[in-house]
Parts: sequence; C-alpha cells; structure tokens
Amino acid sequence: QKGGYDFFMQKEIYDQPEALHNTIMPRIHNGHADFSADNISDDIFKGVNRVIVTACGTAWHAGLVGRHLIEAMIRIPVTVELASEFRYMNPILDEHTLVVVITQSGETADSLAALRLANERGAKTISIVNVKGSSIARESDYVLYTHAGPEIAVASTKAFSVQCAGMYLIALKLAEVNNLMTDEQMKDFCDKFEQAIGTVEEVLKMDDYIKGISEKIKDTFSAFYLGRGLDYGIACEACLKLKEISYVNAEAYCAGELKHGTISLITEGVPIIAIATQENVLPKLMANVEEVKARGAHVIVVTDKDMSNYEGIYDDLIQVPATDDLFATFASTVALQLLAYHVTVFRGYDVDQPRNLAKSVTVE
Ligand code: M6R
Repeated sequence: QKGGYDFFMQKEIYDQPEALHNTIMPRIHNGHADFSADNISDDIFKGVNRVIVTACGTAWHAGLVGRHLIEAMIRIPVTVELASEFRYMNPILDEHTLVVVITQSGETADSLAALRLANERGAKTISIVNVKGSSIARESDYVLYTHAGPEIAVASTKAFSVQCAGMYLIALKLAEVNNLMTDEQMKDFCDKFEQAIGTVEEVLKMDDYIKGISEKIKDTFSAFYLGRGLDYGIACEACLKLKEISYVNAEAYCAGELKHGTISLITEGVPIIAIATQENVLPKLMANVEEVKARGAHVIVVTDKDMSNYEGIYDDLIQVPATDDLFATFASTVALQLLAYHVTVFRGYDVDQPRNLAKSVTVE
C-alpha cells in the first residue's frame, strides 16, 4: 500500500505531481476554467461581491493562500474563517456572498456546521472536497472535487496542495464569469499555473538535500516559521506539519510581527524558517531575518529568488525553482513538507500516526 515508501506521508508527498495534474488539467482549457464535467453552473459565480472561506486546520491554511490570490488578482474581498468560530458568529451573508468550504474528508463536524449555517442564511455554497459523496459534498450547492486519491497519513500533504489548486481554479472562474480578467490575462494565468505545478517534480529531487538540512535541526525544542503575504499561509501550513508529527514546539508568524513580542524567544541555535517568495516584501522580510540572525538563530531560507545580496544572513538555503509570485505556493510547500517529514524520522516518531490526532474530526 505504501508503494515502497517508508510511510504514507512520504508516499503522499511524492503523489503530488499526479494529484495536482489530475485536479487541474481536466479543468483548464485554452485559458479558461472549465467546470462542465463537475456540473458546476456559472451562475454560482455571477455577481459575487464577497467570498468567505471556512475550514479547519490545513484546509484553513489553503483558504489563506486563496484569499491572497483572489484579492491580489481579481480584487474581490475575501475573509477566511475557522469553521469552529464561523458557526457561532452570526455572520452577515446574502445571495452575493460565495461561501467556500474546504475539506479533505468532507466530514469535519465544524466545517459541516459552517456549511449548514451558510446554506440557511442564503449564501451560495461551493465546497472543495477530496472524499467523494461525503456529507459536505452532499450538502453544498456545488462541489469541486480534488483528485488527490486517498490520503492515509494524519498529516495532510497532497490534500493541501490540491486544495490550494482548487482555490486557484475558483479564482479563475470568478474572474471569467464576472469579466474581471481579459482573455490574455486568463491565458497567462493558466500558463503560470501549469509552470508552477511543474516545479513540484524539481523540488522532490531536492529530497536528500532537504534531509541534510533537517538533520541539523532535528534536536531542537522549538522553531519559528516566517512569511509575508502569500508566504504567511505557507508558513502556517509548514509549521503545522512540523509540530503535529515531530512535536517540535513551532509557531508561524507574519515576519513583521516578530518585534511585537516573539523576538524575545529567539536564542542561540533556534531554527527560523523564512519563506521568501514574494518580491514586493522581500527586503522587508530579509530585514526581519537579519534581526533574528543577529540573535543567534539558525536561519533556513526557502526561496525562488536570487539571494546573492543576502549572503551571510542565512545558514541554509532551499532554492526552489522560480515561479510567478502568485503561484509560489506549490514549490515551497513541498520543500517544507519534506523538511517536517525528515525531522520526524530523525526524531524516531511514527510519522503517519501522531499521538492524540485523528484523520477526520467528526466531533465538535
Ligand atoms: O478533513 P478536513 O480537511 O476537513 O480536516 C480538517 C483538519 O482536521 C485537517 O486539515 C488537519 O488539520 C490536517 N490533517 C493536519 O495535517
């Protein structure tokens, strides 16, 4: 079942090129998002003036990525709500609000309750679901299935990548139906999307290199992930990966927040993993990194940018293939999944079955 891999998580990390291909390629044709095989009517996207994404855990992080993309690209306001909060929020919803529920299992109790509330309040609902015929799939107005295949490891990997891909597809469809992008821009979007997916194979080839970096930080008690903009969503997900399976006490921060408290936690040798794929905030991010380096942190930078101006302020560099900034999600995600995986193997824990965690949380 593990297909020759040591753990399901490892197999599922390696499944990602295929999972992404199967989720995306049937749905983009000639610069257009084509949901006809999914029986998703364009009507659900028409006139949408606000998007609310609701989900839990990893799926919520995919929502953070989606927000950045949709707001940057098509200027529709997006909020991303934890389903466990949303369900008790008395949210303001109407027929112009599109509620997107993201879930691998389709059975998460809080996400299902959030969906039911959105349905009751008259919002349009679409879910991004991996498990066919699950409760959330059945109760949403429409379902965009991710085609990742079964995910067995408790720690989500391929599910996250395809959930992000689902958000990119919804962004493209929203743009198209509401005339928010030209044909040329949509074609460009699809080209960049395909190119970004192609980088995943390249990152997988860096496995041994990333394993070497993991060994250097394997004995740490704590770690911090830093990112800005799109990279903050990636930082949150990468951080969850590390802490849930390796039991390292890890936190993700918007890098600009460090000065507002967290920097006091940085001591000699503490790993800082900085995700640096967003050109507009690169100098700012690296200035934050310089501050933690000056306090003795072990700095690992994950980037697709030229770092020659920043030599000396990092200890290790994970240089992933370059993509357009809005599409940088996939390469850095995969690199950081590998990092979490190897740290955990070095620490001798059961990667697939971390303590106290269930694959699907069907109780509140
Ligand atoms: O099945 P769902 O996507 O609704 O599950 C939500 C979370 O429980 C889940 O994403 C969890 O955070 C991950 N398995 C952690 O890796």
